[in-house]
Amino acid sequence: MTREIGVGVIGMGWMGETHSRSYRQVLERFADADFAPRLVVCSDNVESRAREAQRRLGFERFTTDWHEVLSDPNVEVVNITVPNGLHLEIVRAAAAAGKHILCEKPVGRDPQETALAEQAARQAGVQTFVGYNYRWVPMVQYAKQLIDEGRLGRLTHYRSRFFACYASNPYGLLSWRFQIEHGLGILGDLGSHAIDLAHLIAGPMKKVIGNKETFIRQRPLPKGGGTHFSVGGPDDPTGDVTNEDYCGILVSFENGVQGTIEMCRVINGPKCEYTFELNGTEGALKWNFEQMNEMHVQFRSKNDAEDGFIRIVSGPAHPFHHYFNPGPGIGLGYDDLKTIEAYQFLKSVAEGQQGQPGFEEALAVANVQRSVQRSWESERWEAVTSTRVD
Ligand SMILES: NC(=O)c1ccc[n+]([C@@H]2O[C@H](COP(=O)([O-])OP(=O)(O)OC[C@H]3O[C@@H](n4cnc5c(N)ncnc54)[C@H](O)[C@@H]3O)[C@@H](O)[C@H]2O)c1
Repeated sequence: MTREIGVGVIGMGWMGETHSRSYRQVLERFADADFAPRLVVCSDNVESRAREAQRRLGFERFTTDWHEVLSDPNVEVVNITVPNGLHLEIVRAAAAAGKHILCEKPVGRDPQETALAEQAARQAGVQTFVGYNYRWVPMVQYAKQLIDEGRLGRLTHYRSRFFACYASNPYGLLSWRFQIEHGLGILGDLGSHAIDLAHLIAGPMKKVIGNKETFIRQRPLPKGGGTHFSVGGPDDPTGDVTNEDYCGILVSFENGVQGTIEMCRVINGPKCEYTFELNGTEGALKWNFEQMNEMHVQFRSKNDAEDGFIRIVSGPAHPFHHYFNPGPGIGLGYDDLKTIEAYQFLKSVAEGQQGQPGFEEALAVANVQRSVQRSWESERWEAVTSTRVD
């Protein structure tokens, strides 16, 4: 019999809607799922958003008080898609209520809060999952497969960029994303993805040295109700941006790989250029999210005349692709990554097995972020050390 899993979603902005659509898609896409999400309740402190989300996305009810999501006996898993500054409080309350948790990244507004969230979930014995959705790209999963099979030999170099233009308009509103009291800037935001993927592809990090810059130092104040992409005008009153737009990190990995990771939210040119390049003693690969359904790979050839990168295109031969399309080259989109994420989370809950990426992987990201922060202060290499709270 299909096992029903009651879902409560807290925060019905961009990600809350995306996650809700993903739960709805799980059964349609994953014919082998022997569990079914039940969309019990959605919550947003802006009543119109909560009501509208209930109507369009098929929840049984809505509430403007997130505590009601946690006290609902029909809710087994809680999906946290509110601004970062609220994550820890809700994680703690959800863990205390015995609910399994999917939390968007970054789990805490800073590394210390992520460590406290990990502690709360671990001590309560609830399962966790994190919105590191770029892991689920079929080409990324295939890259991981090639690495694990040793097809690239011993890994030597890793270079990654997450260059987005989402805040390059100087009139983009001074939302929670730009205020240090709500959390780190780009290091917490896109940096969480970039560090998690570096862990998946190149392994744990040994030491880091980082720098940061804020290029747009003032932004128009929000008039209320704005979200991620809302824009003001030149005559609006402004406030200070108090966290970083850019972060660059030089990395030495535990396995000897040497690399760089850069991230920026105000760059012109790239739109969402999330890339990594990996080199090993037997080959190399390059991937870019802007063309997420393809990857360039090189396997060292005995024939120098034909040695070089080849382009491979996502198809049913690659992980997860066949759940979406039976044909090669008929690619997936961003929302499909979230559907795979929702499936993996619910599967881990149905099986009673902690899945990956959970809060343990988020803690590993936080350890690196904390070391980068230390390096901003010391202007030296900093060892990656644990922030775990026992
Ligand atoms: N994985 C990804 O690719 C990705 C992409 C974007 C955002 N995110 C993460 O998702 C989270 C949400 O980001 P977003 O872009 O959806 O933000 P958003 O501003 O669009 O949405 C946040 C929502 O939370 C609601 N909210 C605020 N306080 C609340 C409260 N007390 N109770 C209930 N609802 C409340 C807001 O009204 C809003 O609707 C953040 O942690 C962000 O870092 C992840």
